[in-house]
Amino acid sequence: MTPSSNQKPVVIVTGASAGIGDAIVRRFAKGGFRIVAVARRQDRLDQLVRELAGVTEVVALAVDVTAKDAPERAVDAAMKAFGRLDCLINNAGPASWAPIHQTDDASLDAVIDVSLKAAFRFSRAVLRVMGPGSSIITVGSVYGVVGGLLGGIYCAVKAGLTGLTQALAVDYGAKGIRSNVVAPGVIKTAMTKDFWDTPGFQRTNQEMTPFNREGTVEDVANVCYFLASEEGSYINGQTIALDGGWSTTKFLSLDALLAERVKQAAST
Ligand SMILES: NC(=O)c1ccc[n+]([C@@H]2O[C@H](COP(=O)([O-])OP(=O)(O)OC[C@H]3O[C@@H](n4cnc5c(N)ncnc54)[C@H](OP(=O)(O)O)[C@@H]3O)[C@@H](O)[C@H]2O)c1
Repeated sequence: MTPSSNQKPVVIVTGASAGIGDAIVRRFAKGGFRIVAVARRQDRLDQLVRELAGVTEVVALAVDVTAKDAPERAVDAAMKAFGRLDCLINNAGPASWAPIHQTDDASLDAVIDVSLKAAFRFSRAVLRVMGPGSSIITVGSVYGVVGGLLGGIYCAVKAGLTGLTQALAVDYGAKGIRSNVVAPGVIKTAMTKDFWDTPGFQRTNQEMTPFNREGTVEDVANVCYFLASEEGSYINGQTIALDGGWSTTKFLSLDALLAERVKQAAST
């Protein structure tokens, strides 16, 4: 049976105007979700609405996720346009690469406000309308699973999202609302462009990753979709790393491992 329009599930995606969030919107659209797409750039959201016009209904909400009324506006937009809410994806987040001794209070507050506080406030807001079968999925990072070079506040907030998610999982699991973190490794987006363009970065990343390909925005979107679906419906309170094994192994490619020996052999 084809679900009637008002039976189709609804998702709020923050950070929907680019990179991973854009891919999540497209994956959920393909899977039949109706969408509230949240980000600051109206033009990018309008473009998304146009591109998905034949696929699903998308409501664009151009707002800074740190705005006081942003979570309520997103929930109200979902309820007004679609009458239900089945999933929240907390994805909006800025890059921040600096050691702790070089992190001033202004950047500390800025990263916490977008990546941790907004995720907390959006999660709190959706709970008032979500019913059994709903889920909250938060995009963390492998930098929240292990300490990452120059991670600083980024590591701290991403690890904090795991705490938030576990607290949601325990308090609302009994009500049928699941919560999980998806923790990507390096994915090529505007956020990581400077790294990709740095000589040697890609090689180093590959040499430390046992599964031998780059992660993509679609990898992240597929796992988010799986977690929101019936197929993922016994997964609650988990942090799922999407990194080809980077965070759970001490891998070094044979090329890298043997490079020194080869150099030595060549010099004798
Ligand atoms: N790329 C990676 O390697 C990687 C790895 C692990 C985790 N992640 C996480 O994945 C998430 C998405 O990153 P990305 O790589 O896709 O970055 P991106 O391409 O720079 O996209 C970031 C998104 O967040 C939105 N955003 C940022 N600040 C916002 C704010 N204050 N209010 C509303 N929206 C805001 C941006 O939209 P506007 O500018 O239009 O507001 C944009 O849509 C982040 O949480 C990031 O930490 C990324």
